[in-house]
Amino acid sequence: MRFILLLLTFVFTANSLSAQVLNSKSYKNGLVVTADRYASEVGKEILQKGGNAVDAAVAVQFALAVTLPRAGNIGGGGFMVIRLENGETAALDFREKAPEQASRNMYVRNGEFDGDLSWEGILAVGVPGTVDGMIKALERYGRLPLDMVMQPAIRLARDGYELSYSHAEDLNNHKDTFIKYQASANYFTLEDSTGFEEGDLFVQKDLATTLERIARFGREGFYAGPTADAIVNEMKRYRGLISHRDLRNYESVWRDPVAVDYEDYTLHIMPPPSSGSVAIAQILKMINDYNLKEMGHNSANYVHTVAEAMRRAFADRSYYLGDPDFVDIPMDELTSEYYNDVRMGSFSMDSATASTSLSHGEIAGYVESTETTHFSIVDKDGNAVAVTTTLNGSFGSHVSVSGAGFLLNNEMDDFSAQPGEPNAYGLIGAEANAIEPGKRMLSSMSPTIVTKNGKINMVLGAAGGPRIITSTLQSFLNRAVFDMRAQQATSAPRFHHQWLPDVLLFDDFGLSPDTQELLEAKGHRLFPYPAIGRAHNIFVEPDGLLTGGVDPRGDGFAAGY
Ligand code: GLY
Repeated sequence: MRFILLLLTFVFTANSLSAQVLNSKSYKNGLVVTADRYASEVGKEILQKGGNAVDAAVAVQFALAVTLPRAGNIGGGGFMVIRLENGETAALDFREKAPEQASRNMYVRNGEFDGDLSWEGILAVGVPGTVDGMIKALERYGRLPLDMVMQPAIRLARDGYELSYSHAEDLNNHKDTFIKYQASANYFTLEDSTGFEEGDLFVQKDLATTLERIARFGREGFYAGPTADAIVNEMKRYRGLISHRDLRNYESVWRDPVAVDYEDYTLHIMPPPSSGSVAIAQILKMINDYNLKEMGHNSANYVHTVAEAMRRAFADRSYYLGDPDFVDIPMDELTSEYYNDVRMGSFSMDSATASTSLSHGEIAGYVESTETTHFSIVDKDGNAVAVTTTLNGSFGSHVSVSGAGFLLNNEMDDFSAQPGEPNAYGLIGAEANAIEPGKRMLSSMSPTIVTKNGKINMVLGAAGGPRIITSTLQSFLNRAVFDMRAQQATSAPRFHHQWLPDVLLFDDFGLSPDTQELLEAKGHRLFPYPAIGRAHNIFVEPDGLLTGGVDPRGDGFAAGY
C-alpha cells in the first residue's frame, strides 16, 4: 500500500512538474501572442480599452512597425484571417503588388539574371499594402477609431523603447547594408562604431510623424500627400519604379478563407496568393489514411510520412500557384481526396521518393527568406484574428523612406524572377508566379484559425518563408493528433521538406540520433537547421480559457488578462 501511495505521489509530482513546464498561463478575457513584448502589451491595452480582436490586431501591426523593424512594417504587406464569435470568417489580402512599370525581365542585365536586384535595393520593392489593409480591416470589423488604435505605436515611436539584446544585434548585423542607403544609415545605424546595445532607447521621430499622418488622414496619410511624395522621391533617388499612381491605386482585397476539414476540425486558412491553404489541405489529405498517433510524435515513420506528403505538396505549389487575380488555380482538383490519394500512390513507408522522380520535377520553387512575423489574438467575446506580415527579408530592401522613417519591403523577390531560366540559386521559376504589373507575388504566409464543432479551437501561424506552411501544419497536428498543450505544441521540434532542394530539414535540437539513422536508412538527406519557423499560437481550452504558445526559437511574448 505504502509503495502504491509512493508511486502515486511520484506520478502526481511528475505530472505537476511537467504541467508547469509545458503549460502556459491561461486567460479568460483576451490573449495576444506576438514576436515582441511591446507589441503584445499594445494588443492587450487595446483589448482592455474595449477594443475587439480586430482593433487589437491593427494596433499590434502598427506597433510592430515600430518595435520590430526587421519584419513588422508599414512598408510591406501581409494577410489577416478573422473569425467572429457569430461564425463569420474573412480573409484580408494586403500583400504588396508589382508596380505598373515592372516587367518579367526587370532583373536581367546583359542577358543574365541578376538576383541581387530583386533582393536588395530599390528595384526589390513592391507597392506596400499594410496601411490600406489595416484601415479596411478596422472599417469593416473594428469598434475603435483609427487614431485611438494607433496611439500606442505613435507613443513607442516618439518616446522610444528599450532595445532587446536580439534587436540590437539585428540592427548591428545589418549595418554594412544600411549604410549604403542614406536614410537607413540615419535611422538604423549609430555614427560611432560601437553599435546598439541592449537597453538603448530607440527613438523614431520621423516614423512617429508618418504614423500620426495615417492616424489623422487614414489611407490618404500614406498613399497620398507627404508620405506618398516621400516614397516617390526615394524611388527617384535610386531609380525605382513605384509611382504616385501605383500608390493611389493600391487596394487590399477581401477573400474567402479556404476551409479544410480534418477529423472534427476545420482549418480556415488564407487563400492564394498564400500557398499555405492549398499546401496544408493537400498534406492533410495525403496523410489522412495513416495512423499518425500510433506511429508516435516525431518517430521516424511519422516524420517520413508527413515529409513525403510535404514533398508532393511543395512540388505542386511551385507549379500551380500564383496570384488568383492573374492565374487560374485548380483549387478543387488540387485539394480533392482523389488527387491527393493519387499523389501518394508512389509513397513507400520504407524509402524516400527522389524529388526528381515526381511530376512537375522540371519546375522548381524559389527561395524565400525567414524574416516575417506572425501574431494571434482572441478577445473576450471569442473573436479571433491571425495575422502574418512581412517585409520579406530581414529589414526588407534595406531602403528607408527619407523623412518618413520606415523601411520598404523586398517582396519582389517572392516572384519567380525569371520563369524558365535558373535564378540566382540555380532553380527554375514557375510561370504562374511570373512578374506582371499589378500582380501579387506568391507567399507562404499561412494565418490559420481552427474551429472544432463550430467553436474556435486554435489560432495559428508562423514566420519562416516556406517553413511557415510546415510549422503551422505541425502546430495543428501536435494538438489534433497528439493532444499537446499550446506551449508544448509550439515548442516541440519540427521538420520541413519542400521538394527541392531534396533535403529534410529538422530543428537542430530536434531528432534523436537513432531517429536520424532510421530516416537516413529510408533515403532521406537530413540537414539540421537552427529554427524551423517561429510560431505564435493560441489554443482555446474546452472550458473556454485561452492559452498561448510562444515560440522559444524567437523572443515572442504572450500578454493576456
Ligand atoms: N516573404 C515571405 C512570404 O511571403 O512567404
